[in-house]
Amino acid sequence: MCGIVGYVGTRKAATIILEGLKRLEYRGYDSAGLAIIEGGKIKVVKTVGRVEQLAKEVAKVHLTGTVGLGHTRWATHGGVTVANAHPHLSSDGKFALIHNGVIENYSQIKAFLLTKGYTFTSETDTEVLCNLIAYHYAKERKPAAGESAFLESVRKALRHVEGTYGIAALCADFPDQMVAARKASPLILGVGENEYLLASDASALVSSTRNVVYLKDGELVLITPKEFSISTLDQADVSPVVDRIDWKVEDANMDGFSHFMEKEIFEQPLALENAMRGRFSEDSSTALFGGLNLTPAELRQVDRFMFCACGTAWHACLVAEHLIERFARIPVEVDYSSEFRYRNAPLDPQTLFFVVSQSGETIDTLAALREAKRKGYRVMAINNVVGSSIAREADGGIFQHVGPEIGVASTKAFTSQLLIGAMVALYVARLRDMSFNDGVDYVKALKGVPDLVRQALKQAAHIKGIAQRYAHYQDFLFLGRLSLFPIALEGALKLKEISYIHSEGYPAAEMKHGPIALISEKCPSVFFAPKGEIFNKVVSSMQEIKARKGPVIAITTEGAELPPGLADEVITIPDCHEAVLPIVATIPIQLLSYYIAVERGCDVDKPRNLAKSVTVE
Ligand code: G6P
Repeated sequence: MCGIVGYVGTRKAATIILEGLKRLEYRGYDSAGLAIIEGGKIKVVKTVGRVEQLAKEVAKVHLTGTVGLGHTRWATHGGVTVANAHPHLSSDGKFALIHNGVIENYSQIKAFLLTKGYTFTSETDTEVLCNLIAYHYAKERKPAAGESAFLESVRKALRHVEGTYGIAALCADFPDQMVAARKASPLILGVGENEYLLASDASALVSSTRNVVYLKDGELVLITPKEFSISTLDQADVSPVVDRIDWKVEDANMDGFSHFMEKEIFEQPLALENAMRGRFSEDSSTALFGGLNLTPAELRQVDRFMFCACGTAWHACLVAEHLIERFARIPVEVDYSSEFRYRNAPLDPQTLFFVVSQSGETIDTLAALREAKRKGYRVMAINNVVGSSIAREADGGIFQHVGPEIGVASTKAFTSQLLIGAMVALYVARLRDMSFNDGVDYVKALKGVPDLVRQALKQAAHIKGIAQRYAHYQDFLFLGRLSLFPIALEGALKLKEISYIHSEGYPAAEMKHGPIALISEKCPSVFFAPKGEIFNKVVSSMQEIKARKGPVIAITTEGAELPPGLADEVITIPDCHEAVLPIVATIPIQLLSYYIAVERGCDVDKPRNLAKSVTVE
């Protein structure tokens, strides 16, 4: 969602904030702004549009201050205007505030503040919170000895707030201080030499420091150039734990590719190797996970899995469902996190929960995790970001280890989730009825997946040609069966999110029950038609499309014999084990949607209206 950067130190704050905002832009990008303290005053620069635009505006102003904060916005309250962009100032000009999240009771607070003479220039909940801080500061200026009146005003204001927030504030009366706090929106403090950075995402910090403190819900931090102190909303002191981020700034660069999405598609062989490294037993017959915190005996007691996730991660769960049911014979249920948390589903006592989230910050998935834990269930997280809220709150889990994913459309994170799902299926199957030999074959298939993906990536030029021929269509269907039905859903999602083409994913045979009405020469269908038991059924569905003049793009496996002339375009991927087929079959749909979006001139890495991680409900 929105991005937060703060700096307190000895260097020019504006330069560091702009660099951090550029790295965070993938989280939200409809407007941006920064505030710097100079000569006891807060100076604010804001623009609608990208950070690049903000940098141009900042260049016109001479900002030399060494304490400041900045924000990239993804609109929640109020349209995309300069007035609604952050930072917001209190009406007396004393406080500046940036905020991720939603203040749910902002209208009551606003009504109260209006009666006290506070004025508002934006429609945002953030400006309301900023004025609430100013109100408490004006009302109770005398803090106890050793207390910061600035910090105490923020603490008091937050006690009246319902909703979620990651905030950072400046106060003109305390020119070398910054106060930040979080509840459900991530905030990380970077601990440098004689300087501190604050960010909603580690990628904004790593060029300055890799030593970080992950703030927890309900914590506030007071930062000065020399020190920082953490306390809770109830004023209890917190001893900070300094962690080290294990990836480098180079991981978040484009390395000569045109887009992060392209880079992340092509680095999948390596990402998949990293995701499985060290995770097989010595006899190579099963998977091993160090972080599940469950003994084999405990896992044998599990008689149902429940998976919750959002977006692309939800598609990965559907594939995991297929593989776990197929190989381990344990029933699996998959739910959207946002639905699960409110629908009060009846759950079997021996259910094991998995939440899947690349960022580990998606608010609905975090809420689903909390709801499951509240009911006494153990929750495992499959997650890419070490130190994220979901990773910290889960009872155990499996890190994806694919490095930062910057492109908003998920690629390498998705295929690594597919891989980990396949490994979980293997692990649980081997605790039950899968034989040693079948386990060995399965492991061999998993170990071979980076090479299979490399082979599939060799189709890039061919797929680019198809993309150029099909980029002008306005409707697409993606059709697949069994474990490739979720990949059809993912194909439709990828295409719509980055190229704004209407697309739908369906189980191939269900196409007859509705979507077939859309078929004409104007609506191409992308079919997954791998070799195997249902190949002939898929071919029949293709024939039904062709009979209605629908163009067909077939993604098939080596050795499958499509009737000549049936498909207008054919993309061939290697034939492979069922456990890895969804991973290999994903590559063509990633490339197809990427090249179509490029052909249409779309902003691939920052598609309109989307954000990389959604930290509001
Ligand atoms: C957003 C992103 C999607 C992502 C989803 C879930 O909608 O645009 O790409 O799949 O959030 O994100 P998560 O970080 O929980 O996997």
